[in-house]
Amino acid sequence: MQRESNSKVFIFDTTLRDGEQAPGCSMSLREKLKIAHALNELNVDVIEAGFAAASPGDFESLKTIASEIDGATICSLARCNPQDIEAAAQAIDANPNKRIHVFVATSDIHLEHKLDMTQDAVVKAAFEGVKLAKTFCDNVEFSPEDASRTDRNFLVEVVNATIAAGATTINIPDTVGYTIPFEYGNLFKYLIENCEGSANVIFSAHCHDDLGLSVANSLAALESGARQVECTINGIGERAGNTSLEEICMAIKTREEYFNFDTQIETKKLYPTSRLVASITGMHIPRNKAVVGENAFSHEAGIHQHGMLQHASTYEIMKPEDVGIAKSNLVLGKHSGRHAFLDRVTELGFSLNTEELNAAFVEFKKLADRKKEIFDSDIEAIVINSESGITGPWELVDLEISSGKSWGASADIKLTHNDGRILENSSNGIGPIESVFKALEDLTGYSLKLTNFEIHSVSVGEDAQGEVTVTVRYDGQDYRGHGISTDIIESGALAYLEVINRIDRKKISRIR
Ligand code: KIV
Ligand code: ZN
Repeated sequence: MQRESNSKVFIFDTTLRDGEQAPGCSMSLREKLKIAHALNELNVDVIEAGFAAASPGDFESLKTIASEIDGATICSLARCNPQDIEAAAQAIDANPNKRIHVFVATSDIHLEHKLDMTQDAVVKAAFEGVKLAKTFCDNVEFSPEDASRTDRNFLVEVVNATIAAGATTINIPDTVGYTIPFEYGNLFKYLIENCEGSANVIFSAHCHDDLGLSVANSLAALESGARQVECTINGIGERAGNTSLEEICMAIKTREEYFNFDTQIETKKLYPTSRLVASITGMHIPRNKAVVGENAFSHEAGIHQHGMLQHASTYEIMKPEDVGIAKSNLVLGKHSGRHAFLDRVTELGFSLNTEELNAAFVEFKKLADRKKEIFDSDIEAIVINSESGITGPWELVDLEISSGKSWGASADIKLTHNDGRILENSSNGIGPIESVFKALEDLTGYSLKLTNFEIHSVSVGEDAQGEVTVTVRYDGQDYRGHGISTDIIESGALAYLEVINRIDRKKISRIR
């Protein structure tokens, strides 16, 4: 008997929109662009790159991403009002593959407590929103927010109206992560059976992970006829997050014989993309996270190790190489040349342009002078953190620390500014980190509130690099910075200085 060909599942990535809504995850334009390029290389179908009307920053990022990305469809979210829809259309105009995603809440709870609208008014707003969006682009998605808690008859009414207005994708969000797989799957079946014109649109799942069910719910929706999944890298997003892209894609791939679905995702790029997003957002991946966690492919128990030695399939359902985790951990050192470095970078799933490669190679050589063996994780950290664009205006030239258990610590710091200033200062604190941060604040004239400080080891051994991520509140906004060095105090100084540079650059761009 001939087997039917697999159905394509469209992967709609919303790391840069719903993912960015997670506390402390807001990103600069440059960071968003870096992630957008990585998502494009991962071969996602749609990149929801922001919410154009939300802020001038969102508008600018969408505009830049839409003009630079060639491949994936670029999408902006919009409420059902002309200002939002026009802003979305303008922001993504430069890209030939574009989508406007309009939404309005439909549950009684939202209508009563948030929108203060009647059901009739919501149907009208949804219809007119989609109609207006259609005047700017053909590809329009509609989402009835809080769909999983919406009365089914009313949901059918709203979906009918938006299909009639020209929506091409109907997304059914489980906004508050409330539904369970069987129930959510049934909802799709019901809508597909009862909505007029449902055969001509793509139904989409959008789940949140409040009960830890977002991947299971999304798979249930696919089994009931949905053909698009909305997800984020590492599952970042509001509250407990969104459906994790790497988990849904690997479930579809690993259980292909069960689902008969395909995605066009380059799964070998999953791990590097996951590392990139973790590094940029400062949201580290738990060790036991499915697919991309550090422990996902390690085997501790003797009986498992024995099985693995006989045959990997005894305890492994996926191959680490399939998600981009390199098989070998080849060690490079100070005698390794550009070729060996480039080979390793490529093997690890990164694609760098010449400028990025040059910057990364310089960092590699610097690190090789300080550290005997350079592991894959060191190379990943170099590539992810290598700066090929705007840096400064401040640069750390020198840092000296002394500390004692009985008296605390003092830091001597020397900085340069790209206007030619060379500044030096010494500060005391309870410990080295506090004294460094104080010295940096005194030298640059900022008073910052440190809200989070995280450190983790990039590779193994006493000379391993330490990666520090700091989150700082300034002028009502959160800023994040990363620093990486074999000296953890220096990592802290670099992370704090990155925050100061971000604030400075923002001020300068406002003055211009
Ligand atoms: O969770 C949600 O309902 C959303 C919509 C805006 C699609 O993110
Ligand atoms: Zn959402």
